[in-house]
Amino acid sequence: MKHFDNVFIFDHPLIRHKVSFLRDKSTGMKEFRELIEEITTVMTYESMKDLPLVPVEVETPLERTVQYRVPEESVAVVPILRAGLGMVNGVHKVFPTARVGHIGMYRDEETLEPQEYYCKLPEGIEEKTVLLVDPMLATGGSACDALTALKKRGCKKIKFMCIIAAPEGIEAVATAHPDVPIYASTLDRCLNEHGYILPGLGDAGDRLYGTK
Ligand code: PRP
Ligand code: URA
Repeated sequence: MKHFDNVFIFDHPLIRHKVSFLRDKSTGMKEFRELIEEITTVMTYESMKDLPLVPVEVETPLERTVQYRVPEESVAVVPILRAGLGMVNGVHKVFPTARVGHIGMYRDEETLEPQEYYCKLPEGIEEKTVLLVDPMLATGGSACDALTALKKRGCKKIKFMCIIAAPEGIEAVATAHPDVPIYASTLDRCLNEHGYILPGLGDAGDRLYGTK
């Protein structure tokens, strides 16, 4: 795969450990959901390393000091429905007051083209750091279209976070949206002829919600 400056693959041993259970077809729905949440929480810390802070005065038991805090309400999370919803609680562990927008996308199973069917974003999202989340980045069609939808609605500072990425998806998103950093816990080998990631974990939405 080509090198992209704005792509960050975690490859942390503890994340690899957890991802190995996510991939396992014998992992049940409850454990799958918990693993998605835990991995998301860790990735959220890392992906927000450049978050701006504001100075605040704090009185310790000993003296006054200037410390730094994340401004209230400066982050919003936007899951791509449905599977992205499974990552929202993981982000809320780090940013409990983050407002949530929703973008509904499904892939046409024949053409693999994404179709937008829903978009509802919090007021004032234009001024926030927006974390777009979806566990799977396959062809990249859904993420590319969701990023375009966010930009059309005025979002300027957007990060995209996924758990498993295919090289095809990374190339598509990094080429179409070079201004958007991409954070993936794991880079997989390729897509199969049905657009599924190999080795992957199967259909993330079905495994999160027990629909198959
Ligand atoms: C999955 C996944 C992504 C998309 C990735 O959703 O959650 O949104 O596929 O594929 P792409 O990179 O090729 O666009 P799906 O369309 O299966 O919908 P679902 O979440 O409702 O199951
Ligand atoms: N969506 C999924 O849920 N899994 C894949 O492997 C590809 C797209």
